[in-house]
Amino acid sequence: MHRIIFLLCFIFCSSVSALDCQQIPDSDIFPGDQFWYPVNSSDYVRIPPNFNCTYVIKAPITSSQVLYGSVLLTNLLKGVNDYMIVTDSLGAKTTLKYRSDSFLNYDIFPGKQISIQVVTKSVDMYSQFLIQVSYSKVKVGSTVQMKTGGALNYVNLATLKGFDPVLQNSITVQGNEPISMSLATSRYMYPTLYLYHSYIIDGDFYNQTSVHRLIDFEQSAPFVSLNNRVTLVTFQTDAYYATAAVLNPVSEANNFEYLTSQASVDGELDKVAFNPYLKPEACQVLAVDSKQIIMNSLNFDEEITSSCVAQVVTGPPNNSSQLLLDLTTARGLMPYTFNLKYFSVIAKGCSFSFTVKSPEQ
Ligand SMILES: *[C@@H]1O[C@H](CO)[C@@H](O)[C@H](O)[C@H]1NC(C)=O
Ligand SMILES: *[C@@H]1O[C@H](CO)[C@@H](O)[C@H](O)[C@H]1NC(C)=O
Ligand SMILES: *[C@@H]1O[C@H](CO)[C@@H](O)[C@H](O)[C@H]1NC(C)=O
Ligand SMILES: *[C@@H]1O[C@H](CO)[C@@H](O)[C@H](O)[C@H]1NC(C)=O
Ligand SMILES: *[C@@H]1O[C@H](CO)[C@@H](O)[C@H](O)[C@H]1NC(C)=O
Repeated sequence: MHRIIFLLCFIFCSSVSALDCQQIPDSDIFPGDQFWYPVNSSDYVRIPPNFNCTYVIKAPITSSQVLYGSVLLTNLLKGVNDYMIVTDSLGAKTTLKYRSDSFLNYDIFPGKQISIQVVTKSVDMYSQFLIQVSYSKVKVGSTVQMKTGGALNYVNLATLKGFDPVLQNSITVQGNEPISMSLATSRYMYPTLYLYHSYIIDGDFYNQTSVHRLIDFEQSAPFVSLNNRVTLVTFQTDAYYATAAVLNPVSEANNFEYLTSQASVDGELDKVAFNPYLKPEACQVLAVDSKQIIMNSLNFDEEITSSCVAQVVTGPPNNSSQLLLDLTTARGLMPYTFNLKYFSVIAKGCSFSFTVKSPEQ
């Protein structure tokens, strides 16, 4: 009798604890739903030896909705030979081992998928894991046209927020040519987490030529789209500081080696430095939360020669910009107050730097 119960238990218990590779059924993929791997587990699950399963988790886009998925992966691997390979929704692969982080959070970008392969070797090391997936409906924002007439095109990222009762997750900007995007951020109160969970689509949700994390464009060359439209998206729900995405028609950006941006904020001095080689460089300074920019200091690295161009001009830097201040003759004028929300600084033939700040308003 005991033997039979034992045998029954052996069959039954092992079938209960045996993990399988069951994937999320389509009927469970809808906003507000949560799903656990292994199916219906609410606690960590022990992984048997010789386990090898790949969970593919999708966030589909349909004609009626754009879905986002948030994945919480608990890694309690114990065996030195056990591992998980995560391919995130932008295609980046990470291998997790017993010494990796235990709690990991991934976005599933709408229209994409992530995969998590869980592998254990023949020795049972009592490794455990749990995957939790939560689906939300993305609030797709409106499409706006690039402004003309000397206005700087920018998106204050405070207007985008993850799953907020009021704010949208995204905004689409439509131009007449491809778009160059540079980030204007604070250097010290830097919103790392926000920019990690924020993205730019070359195109829009329904036609994604490519998708990139905004954090990849901090302190780097601007992003240049192939389409005449880009979409800025965030899934981050936490607070962050003065940050904007500045958008220029690519023909405007192409006049420069780099056309970058810098936020001017309250409570810190941000330094912008130019070292132009053959082509001019330019930086768009934007007071994201203010209407005033104070240029606090100005420093030329060498004697100013007649070939040096160092100018503060209105708007984005192009042929309709007007000269506000010639920096080659302005060293005695610092600090200098501009009652403007933004301006551009153009540098050619000389290296120099300046600092900016903006009082709160
Ligand atoms: C998961 O739990 C739900 C509710 O208890 C049940 O209806 C469903 O059949 C379970 N799924 C599996 C695969 O066990
Ligand atoms: C796991 O399974 C996949 C797909 O069946 C296979 O390609 C891969 O080689 C396996 N890996 C291990 C370590 O067994
Ligand atoms: C300068 O930029 C503004 C704003 O983007 C635009 O309206 C204007 O046409 C540009 N001028 C030239 C000459 O490119
Ligand atoms: C998607 O964008 C590409 C590139 O701009 C375009 O050729 C294609 O027609 C678009 N597809 C749809 C369905 O809008
Ligand atoms: C101004 O226009 C000229 C001729 O159209 C062009 O060569 C030059 O690059 C433009 N400069 C800027 C800053 O837009």
